[in-house]
Amino acid sequence: MSIGIVGGGIIGLSIAFELVERGVEAITVYDRDPSQGAGLVAAGMLAPTAEANFGEDALQELMSESMRRWPSFAERVEARTGVSIAYRTEGTLLVALTADDQAEVDRLIGFYRRAGSPIEPLSGRDLREREPLLAPRVRGGAFAPGDHQVDPRRLLRALRTLPVRFEARDVNTLSTLRDDVIIVATGAAAAALTGLPVRPVKGQLLRLRGPEPLLRHVVRGIAGGRDVYLVPRADGELVVGATEEERGADTTVTAGGVLDLLRPAADLLPGVAELVLAEALAGLRPGTPDNAPIIDRLGNSEVIVAAGHHRNGVLLAPATAAAVAETVVDKATSIDISAFGAGRFT
Ligand code: GLY
Repeated sequence: MSIGIVGGGIIGLSIAFELVERGVEAITVYDRDPSQGAGLVAAGMLAPTAEANFGEDALQELMSESMRRWPSFAERVEARTGVSIAYRTEGTLLVALTADDQAEVDRLIGFYRRAGSPIEPLSGRDLREREPLLAPRVRGGAFAPGDHQVDPRRLLRALRTLPVRFEARDVNTLSTLRDDVIIVATGAAAAALTGLPVRPVKGQLLRLRGPEPLLRHVVRGIAGGRDVYLVPRADGELVVGATEEERGADTTVTAGGVLDLLRPAADLLPGVAELVLAEALAGLRPGTPDNAPIIDRLGNSEVIVAAGHHRNGVLLAPATAAAVAETVVDKATSIDISAFGAGRFT
């Protein structure tokens, strides 16, 4: 059985990984420029708590299921590829700067609690004990121990070493492929190949660099009503993200976007101003009308779509990959993907 995977990003390559793990040998990944999509820009937050939204129960279930799979996924990827992917479990701090920001964090804490997610309110002092470089005027926040992080660029580097064939080309129509099973994992570009309503949602993001990390935890902050997240890496890199903009496939970096990120980042963590601005870039999240992915066979065909993971592609990679690989190899999956059918949009 030959498998063609269209799209060499985190979703496509994670599916390739789970197929390789199940002994499938004839896998071709079609991508003119593998690993250059949303995963290259992503910060790598694995946030089943802080990325939860009201009315997205099925998505929330899949996020939790995928989070449960992350530790073993990370271990297996590292064992097979020999590449460290920097999966870290210190957890995430929610941080509010002003009284209004604190009111918003309190509302979020209530919502996360009702959703059954682990969340622990913290005072400003508690926060500064955990992260001494936070601004002295930070008011309070919370600890989300279940929200972890991984380095998506390392993950891509690891997955690129898999024993699969990489064919460097664009696939404009699926009928040009001769594989027995075709998996479409082209993120925001899935619309053109399948007609499904996946649209690009622009996110601008900064990579700052210093001699050593300013934080241990991931920080999701609200400062003067502006949201920002700060993701520290062990080598001193600090990822600051991200805008969310409906601008089609535009990937320009704007002064306004950079300002919207740097202002709250420096308000919450003044040491940010001393760091080197190493990279400013924009990626395209693959959004769908209900913010949830499409993981489904197209009709009775041998085409399976795994796209539209929007803000949670890295988090959802293990569950998506296992569901698709089981569907291909065992013809059924134990993961409940019934809410993620393509038919819900037709
Ligand atoms: N998950 C964070 C983002 O999409 O910006």
